[in-house]
Amino acid sequence: MLIAKTIAEAQSACARLRGDGRVLGLVPTMGALHEGHLSLVRAAKAACDAVAVSIFVNPTQFGPNEDFSKYPRTFAEDCALLEREGVDLIFAPTTDEMYPAGASTFVLVEGVSDRLDGASRPGHFRGVTTVVSKLFHNIGPNKAFFGQKDAAQVAVLRKMVNDLNFPLQMVVCPIVREADGLALSSRNRYLSGEERQRALVLHRALRQVKEAVASGETSSQALIRIARGVFTEEPGVRVDYVAIVNPDTLEDVTEVSHGTLVAVAAFVGTTRLIDNVVL
Ligand code: PAJ
Repeated sequence: MLIAKTIAEAQSACARLRGDGRVLGLVPTMGALHEGHLSLVRAAKAACDAVAVSIFVNPTQFGPNEDFSKYPRTFAEDCALLEREGVDLIFAPTTDEMYPAGASTFVLVEGVSDRLDGASRPGHFRGVTTVVSKLFHNIGPNKAFFGQKDAAQVAVLRKMVNDLNFPLQMVVCPIVREADGLALSSRNRYLSGEERQRALVLHRALRQVKEAVASGETSSQALIRIARGVFTEEPGVRVDYVAIVNPDTLEDVTEVSHGTLVAVAAFVGTTRLIDNVVL
């Protein structure tokens, strides 16, 4: 397994990995890897001849009052996990390597970037699309693997790939959860034992929405009321959004149908968590 720290090293290693028509898969991450990330790596291993994983805590997708400096960094453990999975290349650049002094070029997908997490975290998706387009340029994957956990990110990146004609296939993998339903997240490390219990309210709210839909409820307004009701029963948890939207445009729908996205975000203490379900 090769660890590339510079863009030049990554470019030449990836040119080699793509040689003889081999299919190269890319799994972009910010490290602090867990089974959710590893599920993407395994999907990439199964579908590709070679796999690259990027580890880069991307400053441009964090707001000024967010957790960039305290975001968990576990590089040695991450490398050991990826070695065990049989990954071919880790791309782990420094911030200066990724954003040379004075860099002023950004990629912005207008409209969809302002919805859900984009509404709560202004500028977040501009940072995501900028860094992911740089990864696509420098790694040149044939397939790129993302988690459904970040459903809004998937919508924004799909649109970017389509609008900018990136010659690659986006593969979206299901949400990996703990046995009790909590979606795995690097940010779960911030939770105290009590907060970890409280965090289950996100999954509970989504489950109740799903059950109401199964019993025939189709009104988004009524379903949002049900989800918010579940949240009010959990002290110490503050809802950021409950959204029922078209999964591609992230625009609100008034009636749910097959494929509608139900997404929630909430602060458990000071930790912001997200979860979703596709109906
Ligand atoms: P990060 O939060 O590290 O997540 C990397 C990838 O793992 C994302 O595609 C995310 O959706 C996926 N993932 C996280 N938790 C998951 C879970 N429980 N089940 C399935 N997949 C899961 O998302 C980012 O990093 C960044 O925004 C990035 C795309 C790397 C750009 O900086």
